[in-house]
Amino acid sequence: MRRSQLLGVGLLCGIGIAGAVAVSPLNGMSGEPPPAGPREAAPVPLGLEDPSSYIPADNPQTAKKIELGRRLFFDKRLSKNNTIACASCHLPGLAFTDGKPVSTGINTLKGGRSAPAAINRVYSKAQFWDGRADTLEDQSIGPFVNPVEHGFIDHNEMVAKMKTIAGYGKARCTRCHSGFNFTDEKFHNLGIGWDTNTVDLGRYMVTKNPEDIGAFKTSTLREIARTAPYMHDGRFKTLDEVVNFYNQGGIANPHRDNTLIPLEMSEQEQADLVAFLKALNGEGWQQITAPTSFPK
Ligand code: HEC
Ligand code: HEC
Repeated sequence: MRRSQLLGVGLLCGIGIAGAVAVSPLNGMSGEPPPAGPREAAPVPLGLEDPSSYIPADNPQTAKKIELGRRLFFDKRLSKNNTIACASCHLPGLAFTDGKPVSTGINTLKGGRSAPAAINRVYSKAQFWDGRADTLEDQSIGPFVNPVEHGFIDHNEMVAKMKTIAGYGKARCTRCHSGFNFTDEKFHNLGIGWDTNTVDLGRYMVTKNPEDIGAFKTSTLREIARTAPYMHDGRFKTLDEVVNFYNQGGIANPHRDNTLIPLEMSEQEQADLVAFLKALNGEGWQQITAPTSFPK
């Protein structure tokens, strides 16, 4: 994982609860660097200053980074044994504290200090009770490699684990399900229907362009857990079936999108991707809660 992605976590602490924008994380999670675009609007609650003047020039805030940070913040797999997330000690319901005298981290090890309310941190330079981190950027790396928090030996070990999580990189669904609405607004032939006697020619019937034979519009993946059955002929009842279909590279036919190839995902990776898809529901800052499942 790149340092800039890590900073998403810091940004969450700083701004997320001050108004994370409901924008997709998929691009950021696919292994591409998060865009270093201008700060995208994150509404700031009454009484707080505009955070933009506190944000370092080399780590501009974007809606995508905020959203990625929100996910990382709640993802227990970003710990040595999948038990600890930032949110284990910074619970949204307790104003991002844990309500305990001192925090309990990985393997029920206790630290020596109480978890501060990790909110609006963007407005502070010195982080931690003793101010040992000079910036939020430095702070956000700390918990991952703290032996009594997330428990990784070092930053490399954490990055290595991150790379095993397919939702953060492998299936490359974003080649077509790209952008804030998870669609390139283009038409592709995945082979749906070519295993039956009645092939729907799709886009070709509109354009009469042979390249469009059997091509259909890339669907949005927003709220995808709620929109079964899937594909233009509604053949798949579950997201597991959809992911299995992609894992096999679609259905062969003379016009199949030539980028579709078998993905060779393990069963676990497929299950993780399904979990990731189920997490693609639109949410705003008002409803911040821990997702119940995460991508691998
Ligand atoms: C095991 C419990 C635990 C976990 C997990 C944890 N924290 Fe903390 N956090 C603490 C404690 C305790 C402190 C205070 C430590 C100190 O001052 O030495 C703290 C301090 C902070 C601070 C500084 C706040 C301030 O007011 O200075 C931020 C920001 C923060 N944590 C964010 C995170 C993020 C982001 C993660 C995940 C990457 C995380 N924490 C994971 C317990 C935890
Ligand atoms: C080559 C472009 C392309 C790639 C790559 C791709 N998709 Fe799709 N996706 C589409 C198109 C086009 C459709 C609609 C196809 C149809 O109905 O014939 C679709 C449909 C879907 C649907 C059904 C949507 C609905 O509402 O019925 C899901 C879910 C989905 N894709 C998930 C994924 C996942 C997960 C991946 C990565 C493993 C992926 N897609 C990769 C183009 C793509």
